[in-house]
Amino acid sequence: MVNFYRRALNKIDKLDAVQRKELLVSAVGEINLLETVLDSMDVGVLVCDAKNNLVMANKFAQRLFPMNLGEGVQLWEALKDEEIVGFFKNILLNREKVNDYEINIEQQDRKKLLSINVVPLVQEKRITGTLIYIEDITEKRRGEARLRRAENLASLTTLAAGVAHEIKNPLGSISIHLQLLQKAFAKKIKTHDSKIEKYFNVLKEEVNRLNLIVVDFLFAVRPMTLDLREGDINKLISQMIEFVRYELEQAKIMCLLELDEKLPGILFDERYMKQALLNLVKNAQAAMPKGGILTIATKQVDNDIRILFSDTGVGISEENLSKIFEPYFTTRESGTGLGLTQVFKIIREHKGEISVSSKEGEGTDFEILLPVLQKVVRMIEYNDKNEVKK
Ligand SMILES: Nc1ncnc2c1ncn2[C@@H]1O[C@H](COP(=O)(O)OP(=O)(O)OP(=O)(O)O)[C@@H](O)[C@H]1O
Ligand SMILES: [Mg+2]
Repeated sequence: MVNFYRRALNKIDKLDAVQRKELLVSAVGEINLLETVLDSMDVGVLVCDAKNNLVMANKFAQRLFPMNLGEGVQLWEALKDEEIVGFFKNILLNREKVNDYEINIEQQDRKKLLSINVVPLVQEKRITGTLIYIEDITEKRRGEARLRRAENLASLTTLAAGVAHEIKNPLGSISIHLQLLQKAFAKKIKTHDSKIEKYFNVLKEEVNRLNLIVVDFLFAVRPMTLDLREGDINKLISQMIEFVRYELEQAKIMCLLELDEKLPGILFDERYMKQALLNLVKNAQAAMPKGGILTIATKQVDNDIRILFSDTGVGISEENLSKIFEPYFTTRESGTGLGLTQVFKIIREHKGEISVSSKEGEGTDFEILLPVLQKVVRMIEYNDKNEVKK
């Protein structure tokens, strides 16, 4: 198509007014089509000329980065966000190439992960500017993390069922034989020997401890049968906090509730949900040994109910952040590392999601999203069964 216009341009002097108009109309149509294509893409596209003036920004890019569009405006003058401005200025002025650079932005209270590519714009073997394309990889990343965790959990469940029973049986046998041994000893050695008794007690305690670990583990990974009922999450949170209020006060932790009163009711299993939320409170408490503030906020965000737990505790290092949902990962001496595994499982069973963000020394945020639509799906199922048409 470009060649056609090029040829027409060479002959422009020979074209009459009508032909020129036709040519222009046709060119406008082509540009229109290209613009529509660019605006329909789920990728942000920014084009700058050789002087770094922003010459094009498709709709997706404009949605990602608020900007002032105008002629002869350099990219960093057009953009509003300071951090983004700094990033692009640095890259463009140094003529750097960027491949899949990931940045976090916050948009309408939602965190987004973007992947940015900056490449030279080459026209007729000459660099005439810069092409920037930006992908929103938030969902992709979440999906990957979800899959990884689900896979971890699935392989763990299979392994658990086998291993836990394999351990439990011999443990039962050891326990019985210990008792028999103790009785036999008592018969043989008539006099009371406190040393031997102490050894026996240690053995018994250790067997008990192993038993408990196996039980905890089984609990964390066993399939759940949820008793889903429509309820008020705010009420559940208030009740749970009432339950631990005294303990939190003793630990000098102030608990702030910012509950959105207009929250719709959703389906959840009260017992499991309370357990999950309580686990998050306990973790926050453990993270604030000298006291601090725990804020629990609820809000409806699109089709989800968002529950945010923010503490002002010790935070989690970058390295540990990806491990905290793994079974048995703990940094606490008395922790089993199964708390968040349970939380993750409970939220997943409710078709929800949980994510974490943290800064060492500043605090940690856990965000839970629970779908409101769950309820609608249920109602449609019910209608289907009863053959009631909409
Ligand atoms: N709010 C938080 N602030 C800082 N670190 C946290 C927080 N929540 C969890 N963690 C980190 O994640 C780890 C795993 O948490 P998880 O609840 O799974 O186990 P745990 O609390 O160590 O033990 P338990 O099984 O008793 O819950 C913790 O040991 C801690 O390092
Ligand atoms: Mg815990």
